Amino acid sequence: MIQMMTSTEQAEQQELLPEHIPTHVAIIMDGNGRWAKQRGLPRLAGHRAGTENLRRILRACVELGIKILTIYAFSTENWGRPEAEVRGLMRILEDVIDRELPELHEEGVQLRHLGDLSRINKKLQKKVLHAIELTRGNNKLILNVAFSYGGRAEIVHAIREIVSHGHKPEEIDEALVSRYLYTGDLPDPDLIVRTSGELRISNFLLWQAAYAEYYVAPVFWPDFDKEELCKALHLFGQRDRRYGLVK
Ligand code: IPE
Ligand code: IPE
Ligand code: MG
Repeated sequence: MIQMMTSTEQAEQQELLPEHIPTHVAIIMDGNGRWAKQRGLPRLAGHRAGTENLRRILRACVELGIKILTIYAFSTENWGRPEAEVRGLMRILEDVIDRELPELHEEGVQLRHLGDLSRINKKLQKKVLHAIELTRGNNKLILNVAFSYGGRAEIVHAIREIVSHGHKPEEIDEALVSRYLYTGDLPDPDLIVRTSGELRISNFLLWQAAYAEYYVAPVFWPDFDKEELCKALHLFGQRDRRYGLVK
């Protein structure tokens, strides 16, 4: 079937060259609550809208050839939010798995989880583990879901694992620490996007972000569409990544 592209879509696709496409994009999906408040809706309505948007952005990433997408969905600090909101967010994760898993699997998405699963309820744990197992062999795009995740907690977890595996001090180097993080064998993010205009990292990928490029979008996460993503990618393509060296 021949699909007609809108002029915006054509412009987006024409201008994006291979150097505009990072291997690994990470997104701090922020601003759901404010998006809802602006519309006189409860915060959870914002989280639902955010989930809908994730589906769109995921599809855009597949189309654009991005290989790894990491999304920050729920932080270790977010456990401290009002109980009803926390419960609602757990429910949303469960609904998303129930509703989207077959299609994600069909599209070749490999799901992974970053964070501490032991804090979430057993039923949801099982669903997450099932989704990971089912999609293990897929290779179109790796989707890392950072849920019950904190960068500091991740480093503490890695240190504990290193110690419990009996590594000697002289064996511990940067490569070994990286392997024990939740991201394991994956390359570090090239581009970290935060929506809603906030200029902070909020405990996200502290180790892995050492040489990431940052982009802050002014819009709330539910409004961060493909056009916004393409803007971020264009700017990424213009960055001079020096890694501390002189060219
Ligand atoms: C991001 O949106 C989603 C989560 C942290 C779960 P927020 O809920 O932080 O929305 P704002 O920042 O309050 O608008
Ligand atoms: C960061 O957003 C966490 C997620 C997007 C999941 P927050 O809204 O929790 O961060 P702060 O409170 O603005 O730093
Ligand atoms: Mg927020």
